[in-house]
Order: sequence, then structure tokens, then C-alpha cells
Amino acid sequence: MIEISKLTKRYGDLVAVDGIDLKVEKGEIFGLLGPNGAGKTTTVKILTGLLRPTSGVVRVAGFDVVTQQLEAKRRMGLVPDEPFVYPKLTGSEFLKFVGDLYGVSPETQRKRIPELLEMFELKDFGGELAESYSHGMRQKLVLSAALLHEPEVLLLDEPMVGLDPKGVRLVKEIFKTLSQRGCTLFMCTHILEIAERLCHRIGIMLHGRLHALGTLDDLRAKAEHDTTSGLEDVFLSLTGGSEYSALLKNL
Ligand SMILES: Nc1ncnc2c1ncn2[C@@H]1O[C@H](COP(=O)(O)OP(=O)(O)OP(=O)(O)O)[C@@H](O)[C@H]1O
Ligand SMILES: [Mg+2]
Repeated sequence: MIEISKLTKRYGDLVAVDGIDLKVEKGEIFGLLGPNGAGKTTTVKILTGLLRPTSGVVRVAGFDVVTQQLEAKRRMGLVPDEPFVYPKLTGSEFLKFVGDLYGVSPETQRKRIPELLEMFELKDFGGELAESYSHGMRQKLVLSAALLHEPEVLLLDEPMVGLDPKGVRLVKEIFKTLSQRGCTLFMCTHILEIAERLCHRIGIMLHGRLHALGTLDDLRAKAEHDTTSGLEDVFLSLTGGSEYSALLKNL
């Protein structure tokens, strides 16, 4: 469902994404991890068509995201790294706006919008302006918007940020159910517990490259850890982040 081949993105002299090759299968939950600045958001923005690659080809649901952008976009839902909502629209109006953009029929919208608001416990706030929403409520609204047109592929950049524990549990269950129904999920996250429990495969980006790729067991083997190690230890071994004493000397 997602095919990335020889993808490179430069910002001037900086190579933010450096020759990535990756395939994600239908129904897979793929987790993209990596330190700040590794190139995760840049990769997701290219997948969604928000940024153009410098070179390489990206296909989503079989469509080239540059030359067949509309066909690709129609099949994907996006949760961006910042929960962007129009402040002067109510939650319900925002969802209606997004539904219209994606060509969701008025009957389907009338049914699905209240269902989504109820699922995310926003029912009592659907008539309130989004500017009055807390950060977590905005995140829930953006998640609802991404699910509204029942996309085949969900692209999620830090989808759990700002959610309360109940919201996190709900979203994990939603992701598992969608994956079982054949939806493909591509998620950037720093929450390793979520990646460990939810993702079928994990990629670790480092300096724009896909430094490690595979199941948790594959990553353990690469890091030369045994099966008792959690993803946090494996991640820190693979990204060289486990040495603190030098960083703490100025505290
Ligand atoms: N619009 C831009 N112009 C110039 N450089 C950029 C731009 N956007 C990102 N970069 C640079 O590209 C690199 C990758 O950034 P990116 O946002 O993809 O990282 P990330 O892995 O998502 O990080 P984080 O974990 O902090 O979200 C960084 O060095 C960043 O400074
Ligand atoms: Mg990012």
C-alpha cells in the first residue's frame, strides 16, 4: 500500500531524507521512530503530497503521490504533527468541511460525524468553536477528521500527543481494529511503548537514513540484545543515545 523508493529530500544543503527504500503492506501498522530531526515528518509530508521529493518515487495505494496526487490523497487520511483546526469553525462544522473536501455524501456525514464525536467524547462540544478546544480535544478532532472518509491508508505524525490516558487507549483500539479491517497505518512516534505494542514492523530513522528496519525481534538482533530487552533499550543502543554522563556535566 505504501512504496517508497530511493526517496531523497534536500532543504538547501541539508539532506533531510537520504535515499530511503521501504514497503508497507495492506493492513500493516508501521512505526517510524528516530531522534528529533531524523527526517520522520519530512517523510510523512512527502507521503501526503504536502512536500515534493527532491528525487525518488513514492506510491500510496498504487498511485504516485506527485503525478497522481488527487487519486493518492483520496485514499489517505492524515494526522499532521500539529493539530491544525480552523478556530472559527465549530467541531461539527470542521468535520463537515473536511467531509465535503473528500466528497463524503451528506447522508454519510449526517451519520458519521455524530458517531465520531461520540467516540472521541466530543459530543457535548460539537457546537463549540474549535478555538475553545484544549490541545487534546483538537487532537481528537483531527483524528476524527482523518477517519471520516474511511481511508485505506492512515498517515499519523505523533497521533497520541496531548491525549489523556483514556484517549490513548481508545486510539490504540481504533488503530488495531482498522488494521484488522485492512487499513494500512504509517505512524511516527516517540512513544516507544505504543510502537512496541502496536506496530507490526518498526523503522528507525537516523540522519535521514533508515538505520534499522524490522520486527522488534529483528531490531533486538541488530542491537545484539536478547528477548528480555524492551524497545527503549534497543532504540537507544541503535541510535547511540544511552550515554548521559557527558550531557549532564553542565547541569
Ligand atoms: N522547511 C524546512 N526547511 C529547512 N529545513 C527543514 C525544514 N523542515 C525540516 N527541516 C530539517 O530537516 C531535518 C528533518 O526534520 P523533520 O521535521 O523531518 O524531523 P523529525 O524526525 O520529524 O523530528 P521530530 O522528532 O523533532 O519531529 C531537520 O534537520 C530539520 O531541521
Ligand atoms: Mg516530526
